Amino acid sequence: MTTRAPKATKTSAKVKQKAAPARANVKPNGGGPLTIALPRGRILDEALVLFARAGIDLGAADKARAGRKLIIPIPAHDMKVLIVRDADVPAYVEGGAADLGIAGRDVLEEQDRDLYEPLDLGIGRCRMVVAEPEDHPVDEMAQIHLRYATKFPELTRRFLQARGVVAEIIKLYGSIEIAPLVGLADRIVDLVSSGETLRQHRLREVETIMEISARLCVGRAAAKLRSDRIDDLVARLRAVVKA
Ligand code: PRP
Repeated sequence: MTTRAPKATKTSAKVKQKAAPARANVKPNGGGPLTIALPRGRILDEALVLFARAGIDLGAADKARAGRKLIIPIPAHDMKVLIVRDADVPAYVEGGAADLGIAGRDVLEEQDRDLYEPLDLGIGRCRMVVAEPEDHPVDEMAQIHLRYATKFPELTRRFLQARGVVAEIIKLYGSIEIAPLVGLADRIVDLVSSGETLRQHRLREVETIMEISARLCVGRAAAKLRSDRIDDLVARLRAVVKA
């Protein structure tokens, strides 16, 4: 495998400097509609509002209009929207199936793929926290074998390693809050937005690991081959985000 640093482009202002393997499956999408992968759910709703304010009407991708359609052409803007799971956005973009996408900082940092991240959109805000049962707090000095349940094993591993904590990490796919209530884990690392889920399960926050918001991510091939369109899109969205 060859490795090389990403070439600087206007969209590469925040490019990660790590070297990455060249990918045979990257399809240089030199023409055709600009394809964007959007995660279903709250980020999608907020993203559509942001795009509308930037003068790009992606309203056909709204769940109410799209129904179960997952590929939505937007001919008025020569674009195409792919509706995917949030954790799958980076794979579509890195693989070149989408030119760009929107994903949470949590997903992007957990997967740490070879993507440009030219703009934080300031939407989908939440926090990643460590939490534990109110009535069963961990005694870090006394408990030797700590178990952390999470959807984010890599971020959890890095967080614990930085603290010099040795613990077992249990990867789950959802409903993380119940893990310490039923004896599967001692603590959780999960996202908190309103705090309602923690409250309802009598969990208390121990520490915030990071503030989260959604970012635009751009594939390496797209940044090179479609830089004019992507730079224009980023500029429009940046103006709206700043405002
Ligand atoms: C997320 C997160 C928490 C909850 C936090 O779960 O993992 O469980 O939202 O929101 P709150 O602070 O406003 O209560 P999601 O809804 O994505 O479902 P999941 O448990 O299946 O991951």
